Amino acid sequence: MITFANGHAIGYDDVGQGIPVLFLHGFPHNRSLWSPQLGALAADARTIAMDLRGFGESAPCASYSVDDYADDAAALLTELGIDRAVITGLSMGGYTAFAFWRRHRGRVRALVLCDTRPGADSDEARVSRRTMQAQAQGRGSSAIADQMITGMVGSTTRAKHPELVDELHRMMSLAPVAGVVGALDALMTRPDSTATLATIDVPTLIVCGDEDVLTPVKESRAMHLAIAGSRLEIIAGAGHASNAERPATFNHVLSEFLVSLTAQ
Ligand code: MLT
Repeated sequence: MITFANGHAIGYDDVGQGIPVLFLHGFPHNRSLWSPQLGALAADARTIAMDLRGFGESAPCASYSVDDYADDAAALLTELGIDRAVITGLSMGGYTAFAFWRRHRGRVRALVLCDTRPGADSDEARVSRRTMQAQAQGRGSSAIADQMITGMVGSTTRAKHPELVDELHRMMSLAPVAGVVGALDALMTRPDSTATLATIDVPTLIVCGDEDVLTPVKESRAMHLAIAGSRLEIIAGAGHASNAERPATFNHVLSEFLVSLTAQ
């Protein structure tokens, strides 16, 4: 579906009934990353996956920052008549979840931080983001997909599920160049969220694949220590795209967390 919120078109899926859960994808994905969750969790939750601006069916915009992404997410919730949601973000979606918390914390029922980290980019990382922007502009998004696919999944998925590797590669290759270039702006300008962690006082689930090389488990362990009362779940045999690589385990962990919220 497509709606108009925060001044532009936003593509989204809205499936099921129950506690609202808003899913925010990583770079350079689109909302279909969350298909394994929407299909499986819709019996118990209202699952909403949105395309961040410039990806999927969401319109490209003039500016790109994690704050812009967070404001788009809040505007979509308003459009859908949802006051508070479980904000669930993977990697760049997690960076957006931190921004959402800073800007719209009254609308956060709980947080789910998947394969992400709080730190900002180093100077070296920013140089590499600029190189990627030039590559995307010169050779298209498939150049970015070629570069990212190995780190996107774990060694188990590479060995046992080449079809998933192909699917993720296709998703990244199809990302509109404007969205990719804009997201790289958002990534390289994102603030350090380390100090934000101590302010989080809603139930928080941290999930990470044990084979994640882009945002390694040690980042999740550090977040777990910094966020009071948080839960940490390490998913065996999954890399950076843990929700897609081990969907049954991921869904089990997320379902249990959602049940714990509704029981409170
Ligand atoms: C992502 O999956 O969103 C990216 O790996 C984030 C990043 O490059 O920092």
